[in-house]
Amino acid sequence: MLTGAGVSAESGVPTFREAQTGLWEKYDPLELATPEAFARDPELVWRWYRWRRDLVARAEPNAGHRALAELQSLVPRLTLVTQNVDGMHQRAGSQGVIEFHGNLFSDRCAAEHRIVRTSEDDRVPTCPDCGSYARPGVVWFGEAIPEDALHASFAAAADCDVFLSVGTSSLVYPAAGLADIAREAGAVTIEVNPNPTDQSESFTASLRGNAGTVLPQLVESLAH
Ligand code: APR
Repeated sequence: MLTGAGVSAESGVPTFREAQTGLWEKYDPLELATPEAFARDPELVWRWYRWRRDLVARAEPNAGHRALAELQSLVPRLTLVTQNVDGMHQRAGSQGVIEFHGNLFSDRCAAEHRIVRTSEDDRVPTCPDCGSYARPGVVWFGEAIPEDALHASFAAAADCDVFLSVGTSSLVYPAAGLADIAREAGAVTIEVNPNPTDQSESFTASLRGNAGTVLPQLVESLAH
């Protein structure tokens, strides 16, 4: 199963390709979530990420996240791959979540790429080992997916009977390609999204609705 920003929309976490809100509405994530943006203005990038961290810390997992955690108890072989960096699935109780795009609350050394612990107070934190700038531990546009996440996700997609795609515009590869791998392996593929996506035609079925409504119904129907 693959989830995207739409699964956290009902928790009040803005999606990527829908309107940005508040302070940041004049910024394009494409201009902030890149290595080039960080090289140009690390302080601006950090301000944006701190704003996102605060927003996510104040948000709560919703009925969609909780339904997926419950689904795991019904389907123990379930692999949950998320493009989200907000950690909401884990907070709702999902186990073994594969974070395709990293985690918002981790920091990485910008020079050596290792996850590091930094001081909270610095406007631009630095790596405690080498003194280089530290950056958010997420995957930016144009960067590679962590290899272990990539391999585990591809293997799970190639070996599944049912593939669920929830709350993603299915535009960003390689995550969007997981549905193709599952389809080629003969799986039933189901999309949960209130809006059609470019991939809708390729799914076996599209459930049009919000994750917070559709997923609890789906889990309820499987449980009885
Ligand atoms: N329930 C389900 N889906 C929803 C809901 C909801 N309540 N609200 C919105 N959606 C759908 C939208 O219709 C849209 O198709 O969620 C999708 C969100 O799409 P994007 O904003 O493109 O987010 P996502 O697909 O996760 O983006 C992928 O791109 O920006 C990068 O790294 C970032 O992980 C992100 C990746």
